[in-house]
Parts: sequence; C-alpha cells; structure tokens
Amino acid sequence: MVHNLVFATNNMHKLREIQEILGSEFHILSLQDLGIETDIPETADTLEGNASQKARFIYTMTGKNCFADDTGLEIEALNGRPGVFSARYAGVGCNFNDNIEKILKELDGIENRRACFRCVFSLIIEGNEHQFVGRVDGKITTVRAGKDGFGYDPVFVPDGYSQSFAQMPPYLKNGISHRGRAAAKMGKWLNSAHAK
Ligand code: IMP
Repeated sequence: MVHNLVFATNNMHKLREIQEILGSEFHILSLQDLGIETDIPETADTLEGNASQKARFIYTMTGKNCFADDTGLEIEALNGRPGVFSARYAGVGCNFNDNIEKILKELDGIENRRACFRCVFSLIIEGNEHQFVGRVDGKITTVRAGKDGFGYDPVFVPDGYSQSFAQMPPYLKNGISHRGRAAAKMGKWLNSAHAK
C-alpha cells in the first residue's frame, strides 16, 4: 500500500529530493497538487517552531498526514545568525547574492568561520507530531565558489571536503546535507512505523 503525505512546499526540487529518500512506498504531494494557494504563516523565532507552525497549519486545513521543513545557516561568530532569518537576512525582497554579501561583510577580518546548516522536519501523522533534525558542520569561505545548488551553497564548505556545496554534484551534497540527514531520519521512522 502506498501512503500519501503532503509536503508543505511548492519547491519541486525539495519535493523530488524527499520522494527519492522516502521511496516508492510513499507518495509525496505538494501544496500545488492539493490546489492550496494560501500563504503559510512562518512567524516563530526558531526553526523547530516554524516547521511545526507550517505542518500544523496544513494539517488543520486538510486533515491529511503532512510534513513541513525549515532550515537555517548558523554562524558561530555571528551568535547563530542568520539562523531562522536565513531566507531574508539582507532584508525584504533580497536575493541569495545579497544574503551572501551580507554574511561575508559581517565576517570580514574574523578568523572563526565555523558554521552549520540545521534543518528541522515536522511530521504530523493522525494528528501526532514528530520532529527530525539534520545538521552539517563546516566553514564559511571568503570568496564564492561553484555554480550548483542555491542559497549560501557557494560559500559553505562542509567538514572533510575542500569543495563548496555549490561545487558538488547533487548526489554528493544530498548525501551529507542537513536536509538529506533530517529526511533520512524521517524516512527511517516512517518506514519502521508503517512496517509494524
Ligand atoms: P528553507 O527553510 O529550506 O526555505 O531555507 C531557508 C533559507 O536557508 C533559504 O532561503 C536559503 O537561503 C538557506 N538554505 C536552506 N537550505 C540550503 C542549502 O541546502 N544550501 C544553501 N542554503 C540553504
């Protein structure tokens, strides 16, 4: 039996990535698939809070088993910023490049470049919520490198590698990334919960 799960996103790249990780026993539907056009509130001050808020919103609206994610880049020398503000760090209407520009400026002359990406998935099954966290540690470079990926990928080099995320083929990044790790945990839980 195939289990339907709604992913509170319209990002087809993320949808495909998760579908691959969860496998053919699960059918992942986007908000578009359900004809949902409402803006989902995302007003919490933590990644956990935002993931939960988005998943609960969709569960209340549809009554369907669903999940939502939220990700942030946490830079040690910036006390964890941009964190929950990663998407809009350089202000309303900013793009990925503006955000990178801002963190590089803030880190200018600072030796400690340690950072991590954290991703939280909030899954709601029959009204019960479960969270899964994935994390990848690394450092922020001083210059951009690579053309793949998105967001802060050109300036993030994961520990154990010399390439930035934007220089890696997707299979390599997905295998070690925050989102890949959180999704794998969720997949493991779902597969064992449904196997019972
Ligand atoms: P979201 O919660 O997945 O939408 O992520 C929020 C923001 O974090 C994005 O707009 C990106 O700036 C950044 N981000 C999330 N995942 C990644 C990634 O895998 N690489 C680089 N930046 C990311």
